[in-house]
Parts: sequence; structure tokens; C-alpha cells
Amino acid sequence: MDKFIVEGPTKLEGSVIVSGSKNASLPMISAAILTNENLILHNVPDLMDVDTMCKLMVQLGCYCSREKSTLRINCSGLNSDFAPYDLVRKMRASILVFGPLMARLRSAHISLPGGCAIGVRPVNLHINAIKSMGGRVEIENGYIISKADRLKGSTVYFDIPTVTGTENIIMAAVLAEGRTVIKNAAREPEVVDLIKLLKEMGAKIEGEGESVIEIEGVKSLKGTEYTVMADRIETGTLMCAALITHSEIEIKNVPLYAVDAILDKFVEVGGKYVLTDEGIIVKGERIKPTMIKTAVYPGFPTDMQAQFMAVLSLADGTSIVEETIFENRFMHVAELNRLGANIIVSGNKAVVEGVEELIGASVMATDLRASASLVLAALAAHGKTEILRIYHLDRGYERLEEKLTRLGAKIWRVKQ
Ligand code: EPU
Repeated sequence: MDKFIVEGPTKLEGSVIVSGSKNASLPMISAAILTNENLILHNVPDLMDVDTMCKLMVQLGCYCSREKSTLRINCSGLNSDFAPYDLVRKMRASILVFGPLMARLRSAHISLPGGCAIGVRPVNLHINAIKSMGGRVEIENGYIISKADRLKGSTVYFDIPTVTGTENIIMAAVLAEGRTVIKNAAREPEVVDLIKLLKEMGAKIEGEGESVIEIEGVKSLKGTEYTVMADRIETGTLMCAALITHSEIEIKNVPLYAVDAILDKFVEVGGKYVLTDEGIIVKGERIKPTMIKTAVYPGFPTDMQAQFMAVLSLADGTSIVEETIFENRFMHVAELNRLGANIIVSGNKAVVEGVEELIGASVMATDLRASASLVLAALAAHGKTEILRIYHLDRGYERLEEKLTRLGAKIWRVKQ
């Protein structure tokens, strides 16, 4: 397992380009199941999760190959409905083949994802929606076994606006008979990007970016070529890097339309920004304390909570961070405290008492965004920080240490 060594504190300068979005790429790759023709995706980040998704596609009989940031997928050879535990346990997003498999084969045999470091994360809403469309679903030996004679349009109401649940049901509905209405749908930009792709493939979908989405099933979809949106969470993470190191950097290829809530918080905690032709110049100064409450889009994203917590650990005063999406997304707190932060958790709230300085130590990455928060803290911490288990970071950030090195950070990957 690789680790990072970081020497701080660092000042950053220069410019950095944001990669394609992980959470937009993953459902788009599984959307290839919906057609026999080629799907060509540009701006796909080179990440472990994308590799795992490609392996899953190959397991299903599809072809999936990468050339630089372009992925070519062809599912004319689709011959399996089986997503084994070995792949699903590596990446929960494997559940994204559920909707497409039901649409194409009327059959799916997928390992239940199980919990993960950030919470229990059930998929009951995905299953109930497939049932309402005519699927017969059983759970056997840890697997979802789902069959349908016909998949019919239906009205689906989500108790919680689930992101991958919404994506799964949209992908099931595009080839189902008749009209599907999804109420309380997730409105995240990655869902909207998937809808745009599906429309280019010939799907009939209305309501993108709204909480009611209507889909009229069609007989078949065609292949297409599509450029994945830039990653809004990587953008936010780089903004936090400027904040915590009190630096000025230019961030290019920013999905500006999708980062309002992040930009708002960035300014609230003392950041300054100007828009440029290619993106945004951000500048970090004195860090001010604030209140953060995570929420579904367009609220403040749970995927940015850990990174802002690292920043707030050095604020001039006390901040409150409330996590409302996942029940256990404070695993980074204990590790930030090892670096000298003063954070106390009570239920789903964390009280972050700003400290004068962080001091390097050995810390352990526990999940993807927690790893990013540790890298940020390490950039500001005095002395050497060793971050273990950075395979979590590799799942969702494309060569982050190389990008930070080009900005002037002292960060090294140690292969183990
Ligand atoms: N939920 C249920 N039942 C379900 C589905 C969800 O109770 O059937 C609950 C979850 O347990 C959670 C809430 O609903 O409490 C929202 O979960 P959601 O389903 O929206 O999350 P997800 O689709 O599994 C995606 C992202 C996550 C991101 C969340 C929230 C992908 C591949 N993953 O997960 O990304 O945190 O939405 O925005 O799109 C990450 O990139 O680090 C990451 C974890």
C-alpha cells in the first residue's frame, strides 16, 4: 500500500487543471450497456474506480479500453448479468449496472455493496424502484437477484434523493415500456450530465436538474461521443489547498455552474477569487470560522465536508460542521486531531476550535474525501506528515500529488 510523505508548511503558486468528474464518469460507463453501438467518452479521469468499472464491464462481456483520457466502450457482446462481490466490494458504484442490466437483459445478479467507512449505505431505494417497474427482486447469499418479463414505466418516489439510485432508475426507464416519473430525484450536476449523455444516445427525458424527472421509454439507444464534465469536488479540494496554505493559484477547467455552494463557503471563510478565461484564480488569506451543514445539491456537498474541516481547523475561532447525508462521515476527525487540530464530535455535528498551527505526524486515510483532508492538513502542518493507505485517494483523485508538486508542494509517493 502506497503512502505519501508531505513536508510543510507549503506555499503554492501556478496553475492546475481539474480532471474529468469521477462521479459523472462512472454512471456514463455503465450507460454503455444500453446500446450495442460504440460509446466514446472523453475527459474520463485515470482513476482506480474507473478501472474497476471497466473491469466490471469486461466481466459483463463488454469491451472497454482507454487511450489517454478517452474511453471506448462497446457492449454488443454483453453476455452476463453478474457483478461479483470481488468487484462490488472494491467500489460501491458497481451498483450502477443494476438499472442498465434490467433495461437490456431484464435480469441482474449483483452483489450487495454492503456498508463502508462513511455509513451503512443501503440500496433499498434502488430495489424498490425496480420492483415498481415490474422487477422481481430477491436477496440471496448476499446478492441481489432480479428478473423481469417486461420492464414497465412507473411512478417512483424516493424518500431520500439518492444520486446513484436516480441514475439507476433513469437508465432502467430509458428502455422500459411507457412513461416513468421519478419524484424527489437527485439534482446533482453528475445526474444532469448523465441525462445529457442519454439524450444524445436517443433517450427521451425531461426535467434534468429538477426534482421530478420524466422518462418516455424508447425501443433502442445509439452510440455517441461525449465529453464528461469537470470534477466539482476536485475543484473544491484545490480551492481548499489555496485556503489552507494562504496561497494564490489558478484553477483551470472549472465547472463553474456546479460549484456555487463551495464558492460561497470559500468566500465566507476568507477566500478571494476572480474569474479568468480558463477558470478561476483563488487566493487564501486569514481563515475565518463558519457553520457548514451538508445537504443534497444545490446545498453544500458532503463530498467537500472533510476538506473544509481541515481548513477550519486553522481558523481564527470556532466552527460547527454538521453532516446530514452520511451517518459516519467524521473518520478524518481523529486523524486531523493527531496533527494537532482541536475537533470534538457530538452526534452528526463537529465543533472545530481553530488552532494556531498543525504539526506533522503519521496519519491514516480512511476513505476518499478523508484522505484529501489529510493531504490538505499536511500541506499546512509544520514538519513531516506521513499519510498511510492513500489507495483511498487514488480511487477518486487523478494524480493529485503530481498536481500539487507542480504547484510547489513537497509531497512524495512512497511505493510499498
Ligand atoms: N440511501 C438509502 N437507501 C438507498 C440509497 C441511499 O437510505 O437505497 C441513503 C444513503 O445511505 C445516504 C443518502 O441516502 O444516507 C444519500 O446517498 P446517495 O444514494 O445519494 O449516495 P450514493 O449515490 O451512494 C453518491 C456519490 C457519493 C456522494 C453521494 C452524495 C457516486 C458514485 N457516489 O453516492 O460520492 O457522497 O452520492 O452526494 O456518485 C465520493 O465521491 O467520495 C462519494 C462518496
